[in-house]
Amino acid sequence: MKAAITATAKYLPDGVITNFDLERLLETNDEWIRSRTGISERRIEKDPSRATSFLCGEVAKQLLDKRGIPATDIELIIVATMTPDMLFPATACLVQGIIGADNAWAFDLNAACSGFIFALNTAAQFIESGAHKKVMVIGGDKMSSIVDYADRSTAILFGDGAAGVILEPADEGYGILDAKLYADGANGKDHLLMTGGGSLHPATAETVEKRMHFIHQDGKQVFKAAVTAMADTAAEIMQRNGLNAENISWLVPHQANQRIIHATAERMGLSDEKVISNIANYGNTTAGTIPICLAELEEQGKLHRDSNLVMVSFGAGYTWGGMYVKWQ
Ligand code: COA
Repeated sequence: MKAAITATAKYLPDGVITNFDLERLLETNDEWIRSRTGISERRIEKDPSRATSFLCGEVAKQLLDKRGIPATDIELIIVATMTPDMLFPATACLVQGIIGADNAWAFDLNAACSGFIFALNTAAQFIESGAHKKVMVIGGDKMSSIVDYADRSTAILFGDGAAGVILEPADEGYGILDAKLYADGANGKDHLLMTGGGSLHPATAETVEKRMHFIHQDGKQVFKAAVTAMADTAAEIMQRNGLNAENISWLVPHQANQRIIHATAERMGLSDEKVISNIANYGNTTAGTIPICLAELEEQGKLHRDSNLVMVSFGAGYTWGGMYVKWQ
């Protein structure tokens, strides 16, 4: 038995930071940002009382509405995030409380930008084993809480956002048909990270002074690794499943940089109209990017029975992976 996505929903906060806004904060400019990343603006949750659980809670409520089921039908909630409200309790437990999913267990999964795909594949195992019939998977990050708006190499990239799905047993031949996930901590751990606030460097005046509670990235290293990993994984998913440029309906890639998306699509031989990109509007929302794309595809009526979707991601860790879904 395979697992199928039976509802999608997204939540983007109203606040917008454009490239022109960033020009006023940093030594950067709209032309540079657009040509190097494809990003024009990003959404920011400006209300400090609204953390990741708020974004994910809004998604969870919409998912229940769209599927037309009570919260008590949900058996498991997985939230993929690297910006939980707090280190504990898990943001998934906060979301469970928000919607009153009294029969669900709940936990967070942190695979950074690959979080949604990792969580979706994890959730699918509970459907495939027969353990559960209704699982909610949400990817969301309030990146503005860890972005250093004095660092032009990262401030331009990230935005806030969340989205998710409900997973249920699939019709024969449909659903999540393949997933191949990877991690490489040996080579990835030093290039994209936040050093402060964990058990290695608990918060002190010094960690604050050294800006250790912000995201740090070696953009060039990450870029090179991401291009190779996403393109290779996409090609592997195609090869394993007899997919080609004609029978793929949509490539749904993680939205980190338009140049990485383009390189992945090129390797797959896909024409631009099959490649989902909304990075211009939202930047990189980390665990939010892929489910936001799915929700927009569904809103736009572009997902049909038999649509073949390839999703690919890359993120801190390093973590990366690909997935093949036949929409039911
Ligand atoms: N505005 C203007 N100039 C900038 C800038 C900015 N925001 N950021 C960097 N620059 C400058 C650099 O200082 C450098 O100047 P120099 O040549 O005088 O030294 C020049 O632009 C090129 O910088 P570089 O870092 O080589 O740019 P890049 O083409 O690698 O682009 C990133 C930088 C961050 C956009 C790119 O590396 C990237 O997207 N990396 C991967 C990010 C990612 O995907 N992260 C998440 C993974 S999930």
